[in-house]
Amino acid sequence: MKQLLLFFTLFITLSQVHSQQNLPTDYLSKEFHKGRREAFRNLMPNNSVAVVFSYPERVFSKDVNYNYHQNPDLYYLSGYKEPDAVLLLFKEDQGVEKYNEILFVRERNAGKETWTGRRLGAEAAKSKLGFTTVYNGKDFKDFAIDFKKLSTIIYDKIPTDIGNDKSGFDLYGLLESFKTKAGITTENETSINLFTNITNSLREIKTPEEMDLLRKSVKLSCIAHNEVMKAIGPDMSENEADGIHAYIHRHYGAEAEGYAPIVGAGANGCILHYGENNSTKIDNQLLLMDVGSEYHGYSADVTRTIPANGKFSEEQKAIYQLVYEAQEEVFKICKPGTPIQNLNQKSKEVIAAGLIKLGIITDPKDVRIYYPHGCSHFLGLDVHDKGNYMGKLKENMVLTVEPGIYIPANSKCDKKWWNIGVRIEDDLAITKDSYENLSAESPRKWQDIEKLATQKSTFNEMKFPKI
Ligand code: GLY
Ligand code: MN
Ligand code: MN
Repeated sequence: MKQLLLFFTLFITLSQVHSQQNLPTDYLSKEFHKGRREAFRNLMPNNSVAVVFSYPERVFSKDVNYNYHQNPDLYYLSGYKEPDAVLLLFKEDQGVEKYNEILFVRERNAGKETWTGRRLGAEAAKSKLGFTTVYNGKDFKDFAIDFKKLSTIIYDKIPTDIGNDKSGFDLYGLLESFKTKAGITTENETSINLFTNITNSLREIKTPEEMDLLRKSVKLSCIAHNEVMKAIGPDMSENEADGIHAYIHRHYGAEAEGYAPIVGAGANGCILHYGENNSTKIDNQLLLMDVGSEYHGYSADVTRTIPANGKFSEEQKAIYQLVYEAQEEVFKICKPGTPIQNLNQKSKEVIAAGLIKLGIITDPKDVRIYYPHGCSHFLGLDVHDKGNYMGKLKENMVLTVEPGIYIPANSKCDKKWWNIGVRIEDDLAITKDSYENLSAESPRKWQDIEKLATQKSTFNEMKFPKI
């Protein structure tokens, strides 16, 4: 009787953890991931294997981990979103079963799933992700793979700062087994370079399915920027502006932000990757918002800089206009064939000339004091996505164009410029002979920003109890 009860309890628990309803229907398809594995395999040398591990989990607080984020390379190649996994891709068919890929995943466990969430498990990884050969992570150690028979083992840098649950088949255990099986004592640079080159060349070109998700991620991020432009006033806090972005992202189904939001007023806007977002009052200052959603893995990366009181001052406008002009000049060369390095060079030239004209610098080399970062990076599953940055622009690349000028207090220029920080960042898809600005829906011209600021936002109507 007791055993029967246990069986039923287990059955009910497992059915409960299975019964996930009303999920998004626009995730990447299993055909997409399979296609990416094929594309990867085509670039592998003969008699090789690629070994791709999940990212480690990270502690947030005692007994609490950060929300888990999969290694984008593993996600790209498999669609698997959980920790403690490893994918093996072989160039040629292996064994009598003639498999050319194996995914090792977390084992299902009713007790653990009650505490930390559902697990896909090996069976569903076959049906939902389209693999034929899937095992539990605990089977990896004794799985018969003779790495020594293979000419090349392709893998990424092996992380060392990871937890060890001593089970032998968490990520730590999987990595130890891999190193033992493959006889790796020190990382092989050739293996890592090969992995990097293959993933760079695949991920820098977006497929139509990826483009759909990126387009959506950028669009909903623009809606969030526009709503803050309407809602903002000098009494708003940085945190509240950040919260409006987050609310709108979630409203449209984005799981998270693609990076820690940068919402900085005045002097804070001069800190490139400011993240405290804790100034309680933006006041009559500029607010620099570098915030983008992550939608089904794909990150937007949009920056708008707006005056909290709805009107740019003369100095703010002069700096803003210069950044805008630099962005416009870079847009003009965004087409297939342009060396990617030229985008940064062009933006630096325009800003240097403009800063000289405004009397802020005298030597063009000093542009780097006020514009210390690059102009562009690829965008995709990573906000700073993989790709060959020494190459040329190609159709279906997606990248940012993000010039900026940051003049902190005590800079060696007239103090009327102090504490002005401006960045304008847009996300471009390179087309056959030009580009499409995916973030065009959010205004960039100072006149359009001032105009939008005169509109009311739903967030202005919201009333909460005083505490
Ligand atoms: N949000 C980080 C960047 O713009 O690169
Ligand atoms: Mn960026
Ligand atoms: Mn950004």
